[in-house]
Amino acid sequence: MPRIVKLSANGPIKIEPSDKPVWVCACGLSQRFPICDGSHKQCPHNEPNPGAVYIYDDARTRVVETRVETPAQHHKPTPGE
Ligand code: FES
Repeated sequence: MPRIVKLSANGPIKIEPSDKPVWVCACGLSQRFPICDGSHKQCPHNEPNPGAVYIYDDARTRVVETRVETPAQHHKPTPGE
């Protein structure tokens, strides 16, 4: 079943399981997911429209659509969902 997953992070999460840290992708654009490969640099920074949602192509390399959602369109999960 296809799914649309919204990610809003513009950078990785640092995990330190030992003396060598691992950077886990939190933006969803990495070609080496779940490891960050620096692709987050293409995420829009200083977003002029905080309501914009960017839809990427299947390769996660190019924005193919920009949607502007109103607050009513934001999904709020119910308990148990
Ligand atoms: S956080 Fe996704 S590529 Fe770096």
